[in-house]
Amino acid sequence: MTGVSYSEFTAAVQALPERPIAFVLGSGLGPVTANMTFRCAVGFADIPGMVAPTVSGHGGQLTLGEWAGRPALVFTGRLHYYEGNPWARVVRPMEVLAELGARAVILTNAAGGINTAFAAGSLMLLTDHLEWNHPRHWLSPGPGTRPSPYSLELGQQLLAAAAVSDVQLHRGVYAAVTGPTYETPAEVLALKACGADAVGMSTAREASRCAELGLPVAAISCVANLAAGLSPTPLSHREVLEAVAASAGRLGRILEQFLVTLPKV
Ligand code: HPA
Repeated sequence: MTGVSYSEFTAAVQALPERPIAFVLGSGLGPVTANMTFRCAVGFADIPGMVAPTVSGHGGQLTLGEWAGRPALVFTGRLHYYEGNPWARVVRPMEVLAELGARAVILTNAAGGINTAFAAGSLMLLTDHLEWNHPRHWLSPGPGTRPSPYSLELGQQLLAAAAVSDVQLHRGVYAAVTGPTYETPAEVLALKACGADAVGMSTAREASRCAELGLPVAAISCVANLAAGLSPTPLSHREVLEAVAASAGRLGRILEQFLVTLPKV
């Protein structure tokens, strides 16, 4: 794949025959796009307002290519708050996608399962989130309502694509925490009592930024492990990466079916 400058990348996006769908690949989810034909890529550090990622399992490129016959933009990895990034930088990739004219954004992540109906490897479409990862979050962006940022229409399209692909896609609420440490068992029980089905360290602020920008957004969690206290074994980042890699193929099938059936605009 050709590495290009950001201005060359922008020019390539502008020359596309239709607006691209954008994807953000979470920890270990690189293999999701195994069937995509990549055209060019730009490193995170070469994109205005971004820096290279520091977490293993995060590729650190924005790539352009064709996936299931449709133009696609893919962030291989993301920037997290726990890496020392300010929130403005964590959500910067969403602003880049809006500037590039993306039609919609599908966020993916690795998460800990809280709902006991989930096993490691389950996939969950986010219906809403608990954005409990920064102080007094409910005061931002200011007075007004805070509806779920996740697009109902995109959610329906993803659920339909999952059904056609014969892949189970659960629905649920994602609790966003700052990390980088995993939760204590008591914290997991508290999150469960508050209505969370899964917990992770990303996605919520990105989805909220998309909604602010008017960019339709959906998100799918890959349940990498049962959250602390629900599993007999201690959690590790390596275990998370392995479980996620095992379910990447199923997630890829959903997203390919979604792209094939997405109406042309
Ligand atoms: N907790 C928080 N984030 C995570 C987990 C978890 O158990 N698994 C993967 N990301």
